[in-house]
Amino acid sequence: MDLQAREPAAAADATAAPPLPSGLRERSFDIAGKRVRVVLGEHIEAEMAAALAELDADRFVVVTDARVAELAAGALAERLERTTPTLLLSHPPGEEFKNLATLSRFVDLALDFGVTRRSVVVAVGGGIPGNIAGVLAGLLFRGLRLVHVPTTVIAACDSVLSVKQAVNTGHAKNTVGLYHIPEAVLVDLAVVANGSPRDLRSGTCETVKNALAIEPAQIPRLRRLLRREADYSPADLGEIFELSLAVKGRLLLEDPYEKHAGVLLEYGHTVGHALELAGAGRGPGGDMIKHGEAVALGMTAAADVAHRAGLLDAEGLAVHEELIDRIGICRCLTVGIAPETVLHHIAYDNKRGYRSCDGSEVTMVLLRAVGAPLNAEQRYLTPVPQTLVAAAVHDLLRRGKECTAGHGPS
Ligand SMILES: NC(=O)c1ccc[n+]([C@@H]2O[C@H](COP(=O)([O-])OP(=O)(O)OC[C@H]3O[C@@H](n4cnc5c(N)ncnc54)[C@H](O)[C@@H]3O)[C@@H](O)[C@H]2O)c1
Ligand SMILES: [Zn+2]
Repeated sequence: MDLQAREPAAAADATAAPPLPSGLRERSFDIAGKRVRVVLGEHIEAEMAAALAELDADRFVVVTDARVAELAAGALAERLERTTPTLLLSHPPGEEFKNLATLSRFVDLALDFGVTRRSVVVAVGGGIPGNIAGVLAGLLFRGLRLVHVPTTVIAACDSVLSVKQAVNTGHAKNTVGLYHIPEAVLVDLAVVANGSPRDLRSGTCETVKNALAIEPAQIPRLRRLLRREADYSPADLGEIFELSLAVKGRLLLEDPYEKHAGVLLEYGHTVGHALELAGAGRGPGGDMIKHGEAVALGMTAAADVAHRAGLLDAEGLAVHEELIDRIGICRCLTVGIAPETVLHHIAYDNKRGYRSCDGSEVTMVLLRAVGAPLNAEQRYLTPVPQTLVAAAVHDLLRRGKECTAGHGPS
């Protein structure tokens, strides 16, 4: 496995003046009794290093993937190294590396480096290194301080605004994990804007999901912001981040461990996670489906199930279709996958056990209308006959056979 660990080289002298920071602002969110600092802006590497220095760490462990190491994490690690011993741990990009093997290697390398209870783990990258770093920080000495530096939309707008940290096993996604609260979230929007159009589209799906399931008042603003081309400016991404922070901040205050109202954040994830795990391919190359793409298909399936069950009307379905189309994501499965395989993976869904249901049912978040989730018996997870879910997955596949849209440039 191509895992790298190195101490960053001494920083080279800057030859060109770095871009000036702009749009710098401070936010926060409260979770499980702790206030998490959020620093947001463009070209804010120096401000990030200053925020990290305030933690008075004896060592930093920067966790990233190989691509982000080149793009941002290496430079940040070099800057930190000027004052504090810093270890850069990187794994190859990809969901297949968000596993116990990578975690175990990183634990050994961090201990070899001499981390102590005063050390800080810094996650720089998308949701994948962010989740690995989260579990690493939660496990080392039963909890080292953790700072998130998200570099994808999905990480900034979703995964870092959470205490949930997990890695995958062969059984299902996110099956081994823990809860760990970060100290701070530092977002350089100029770095986030470098993401591929496909990753930017995938990231905005979670913000759309929040609006559909929780905060429909955000829909008009999303209609203005979303662009199929995904040519988002850092300022646009800042707005999308603020929308996500508003919803997640409110929900996490109420339900930090995402077991009650927080379950609504899982809208579209029951079928979505199963599609990811089933390795649903998309596009001519059959490349792996992305998390947000899977959530978009999962929301399409959830809306379909709610419609078939007589809950969501045609207008509600149309709002789903419109917003997903505005993101620029195709609402069909373009590569064959058996509905039974999807149902098999749903059986291992990580919400299993939150609400009992018999073997012929699946539990999922369903909407009665946009922004109005079904909350029977004070639970947001509703048992649904597997046959309804299978029918919705069949529909995604049927449309995929007829689909000529593709999903835009990657
Ligand atoms: N609550 C949670 O913990 C939570 C919530 C949502 C998603 N997730 C997890 O997040 C993961 C998906 O996150 P992701 O889509 O960010 O994946 P990722 O970390 O793999 O990033 C996607 C790709 O973008 C590259 N990249 C990262 N930043 C870049 C930049 N600024 N410019 C160009 N390329 C860049 C990466 O190298 C990678 O190839 C999934 O594993 C999902 O389960 C977790
Ligand atoms: Zn998600």
